[in-house]
This record gives sequence, C-alpha cells and structure tokens, in this order.
Amino acid sequence: MITDAPVHRPFALQAMKIAKSFGDTKVLRNIDLDLAPSEVVALLGPSGCGKTTLLRIAAGLLTATSGQMEIAGRRVVDGSGFNAPPERRGIGMVFQDYAIWPHLSVLDNVAFPLRMRRQGRTERGGNAMRALDRVGLSHLADRFPGTLSGGQQQRVALARAIVAEPPLVLFDEPLSNLDRELREGLALEMGALLRELGLSAIYVTHDQSEAFTIADRVAVMLDGEIAQIDTPERLFSSPASVEVAQFLNIGALIDGNVCQTRGFTCNRDRLNLPDLRQSAPTGPARVLIPRTAVRPDPAGALMAQVLRCQFQGDRYLLHLGLGGDAASLVCPADQPAPLHSQISLAIDPDRLRVFPH
Ligand SMILES: Nc1ncnc2c1ncn2[C@@H]1O[C@H](COP(=O)(O)OP(=O)(O)OP(=O)(O)O)[C@@H](O)[C@H]1O
Ligand SMILES: [Mg+2]
Repeated sequence: MITDAPVHRPFALQAMKIAKSFGDTKVLRNIDLDLAPSEVVALLGPSGCGKTTLLRIAAGLLTATSGQMEIAGRRVVDGSGFNAPPERRGIGMVFQDYAIWPHLSVLDNVAFPLRMRRQGRTERGGNAMRALDRVGLSHLADRFPGTLSGGQQQRVALARAIVAEPPLVLFDEPLSNLDRELREGLALEMGALLRELGLSAIYVTHDQSEAFTIADRVAVMLDGEIAQIDTPERLFSSPASVEVAQFLNIGALIDGNVCQTRGFTCNRDRLNLPDLRQSAPTGPARVLIPRTAVRPDPAGALMAQVLRCQFQGDRYLLHLGLGGDAASLVCPADQPAPLHSQISLAIDPDRLRVFPH
C-alpha cells in the first residue's frame, strides 16, 4: 500500500548532555546537539574549547564521562559505561593530515575501509570507483597520492570517508594545513560537494568564514559549551551573549547605562543612543554596535576617530576608535578618510543589541 505519510528519518546525530573531564578538568559540559539528516553543522570555537574532544566522542575514539548519544537512531553512548566501538558506528572521518597512504594508489586508498570490512576485491574496486566518481576524481584512480595537489588529496580523503555510505561524516580542520588562498577555494568546493552528496556532517574549524561557507548551521563552542547554534545570518543578527558577539567579532561592545529618558548613554565615550530606551531594562548594560549598523554620514550622530584607512581594491575599510578604551569598529566606506580625523557615522538602531549586565 502506498501512503503519503512522511518517512521518519532519525537524527544523523543526537547528543544529550554529553560531558567529558580529564582528571579534574572539565573539557565538555552538557553538550546537546541535534543533527538532521543531510545537515552540515560546523563546530566553531577557539583553540582548546573542546571541538576535537566532542568529535572523538562521536567517533568512539574517546569515552564520554556522562551523557548519551545516538547516531542514525542507534544508541552509541548510554551514560552507564556502554560505548559502541568505532567500527560499529560506521562513521566516515576526514582529518587535518588526511592520513592517506603514500604507497597505495588512489583507488586502493579509497577502497581501504572496505578491505577492513572484508569486502571482496571486485566489489570494493567498484564501490571505490563510484566514490571517486562522486568527488570527481575517477580519472586519477591509478595515481599515487604524492603526485596529487593538496585539493585533490583532500578529495581522496573525502571519497574514502564516504565509500561505505556512512550515516555521518566527521571533519576535523581538514583544510587547516593548506595556505589561505587554496583554503578559501576548497571551502567553497567542499560546501557545494557536501550539499550535492546530501551528507550529514559535523565540520570542526576555528575559521569563521570556512564555517559560514560550509555549514547550514554553526555551533559556537566556548569553553566546553555550545554557546549558540544557529544559521550564520542569525548568529550575526542575534548573538546570544556578549561572549558570542566578541568571538565572532561582530562589532564594537560598549559599556554604559540604559535609562528611560535618554536611552543608552556612555559618558566616557560621549555616546547617546536614545532609540534604545525600550530595548532593555534600566541599569548598566553593554551595547553591541555591529559593523553592519554604521555607515559614514555627515549628518550622523556618532563621532569616531579614523585609526587606519585600508584600501581594498573595490572600497576602503576604516578602522575607527569610538573613544574610551578598546571600543573600535571596522566600517566599509566608498571614500578614503584622513588618518586621525573625526568622522560622523549614522547608526541603524534596529541592528543594535543590548546586553544587560
Ligand atoms: N587526553 C587528554 N588529556 C588531558 N587533557 C586533554 C586531553 N585531550 C584534550 N585535552 C584538553 O582538553 C581541552 C580541549 O581539547 P580539544 O583538542 O578538544 O580542543 P580543540 O577545540 O579541538 O582545540 P584546537 O582548535 O586547538 O584543535 C584542551 O584544554 C586540551 O588540553
Ligand atoms: Mg582540535
């Protein structure tokens, strides 16, 4: 019988209250993460925040201290000591150093995980060829890795990760060994490829633009916690905390005070934002002025000093000081501005965010 009922597909990964300590040091705290089928989530965070630790727990290479995890509907960590071994999870992995064998041909590298599963020679050759075809490398099947470019080696690693049709692929900074220019191009390619292949993936990086290029949603990880998980656009328009705004470098954060009559004021910076009267409870607060909220305008109400003016080919980037200590802002402009001059800026009040103290 054919019905129109939607087919239930379990989460590619579901982490519930995963925590990890090494001795007395808590490295992960209460990680909740749901990854939909065919979704790519980036884990973005500074060095040491726990990204690799979480990935290794998902892969089964490390045991969680507490919490549960399911992969494609199957319990792999149950919080009472049960921890499914890596080979039972069927996950594909791509790491920073690719781990491609130099003495094996491209085809044999890609077929390697199938050999581990004791698949017959002919069958695994066919499957490996199909995986190479999916990443556009079947014409290089007989070559040896040493004769490939960095980007091509990366694709071999991806073909090997997907050859067994895994429910989930884990990436740990796969592009970080490449130089910046190559990385940007490959991030675009990788994002397109992951979507085309419909893979469910967790992609670890500490590069913001790479995360935004590749992922549907980005989990900002700070100090062992997921501080916010959202689309790149929402992270920028509605950062959940001062820490997230700071880490993403969204704009200037200024300490001041909100009052009913004058809105937000900051005496030290002689800054007054009357539009923020209704936006927050009265009292001390920190306001975020995103880069996208300001533009040079002779009639603008906010004064700033030009600290640097950087020509970028199609426009200028003004590095501006808002007075006081570290409050500075980078703002695109059509015209250059003299160093140390004062310019006025118009502010879009709808884009300001207030964080009460
Ligand atoms: N086996 C271990 N024993 C003790 N501490 C560990 C161990 N593995 C990781 N750590 C610590 O856990 C913290 C998180 O490490 P992790 O490798 O997950 O960070 P990361 O976010 O991947 O950083 P990076 O961006 O530098 O790769 C670090 O402080 C690290 O020193
Ligand atoms: Mg790491």
